[in-house]
Amino acid sequence: MATTVLRKLTAGCGVEVLGVDIARLSNSDMELVRQAYVDHGVIFFRDQKITPEDHIAFARRWGEIDINRFFPANGQYPEIAEVRKEKEQKTNIGGGWHTDHSYDPEPAMGSILVARELPADGGDTLFSNMYAAYDALSVGLKNTLSTMRAVHSNAMAFGAAGFYKNSDQAGGFKGESLVGEAVHPVVITHPLSGRKSLYVNPGFTTHFEGWTEAESKPLLDFLFAHAVKPEFTCRFQWHDGSVAFWDNRATWHYAVNDYHGERRLLHRITIGGCALA
Ligand code: SIN
Repeated sequence: MATTVLRKLTAGCGVEVLGVDIARLSNSDMELVRQAYVDHGVIFFRDQKITPEDHIAFARRWGEIDINRFFPANGQYPEIAEVRKEKEQKTNIGGGWHTDHSYDPEPAMGSILVARELPADGGDTLFSNMYAAYDALSVGLKNTLSTMRAVHSNAMAFGAAGFYKNSDQAGGFKGESLVGEAVHPVVITHPLSGRKSLYVNPGFTTHFEGWTEAESKPLLDFLFAHAVKPEFTCRFQWHDGSVAFWDNRATWHYAVNDYHGERRLLHRITIGGCALA
């Protein structure tokens, strides 16, 4: 019987869960994986041989699947979004720090990303730990942020005048009339861990509630730079069989776009979440 081992990627972010087969997780291994997810916010698996059906079944063990209304969907499995960059494309998906679905009133809990086709080199994904980022703030700033709320919008990413619709990824993206925004506390109490987590991100947070964008910018810029200090981050190198599973309420991620001329395809399933407080 394989022994399950947790191996940290860095002191501050991410853990590999080794020795499990996520298509055939016993209840006790599921409990161990759940605890690793709660404790670390992003977990990684290696050497998995999972079919799209296994991927969907694993996701359903965590909650309801939240089908992304903007992303290119896999033709056969609508639950699976395709994070795809073709050889001739220059723009990748997720090539900036962000957390998924923060623009929804009930932001998605997490995303499970499975490697399907990888470039020979590059195409890593960076993660940053928002528990650690919050913990490292001064008491004074924590107090100030504790009563603040921020607006998150997807228009600048997915709207008709947004980033993807004006890039060479435009053909795959849809739903530009479905853009919208949501307001969340700047610091949330994480619904699974009970810990405080910094919940603003450069991809979708536009301003603080009751503040103008110009007024918000200096403090948001400070928080955005603070949150990706090297001590809070890790870099995940993909191989065949790699799977990453992150919590959108506890981490940010960034897909590195350094493999022009090669194809990269990953399958992403996003799991529904809840309102944040
Ligand atoms: C994403 O932002 O969901 C994509 C991450 C990646 O492709 O590494």
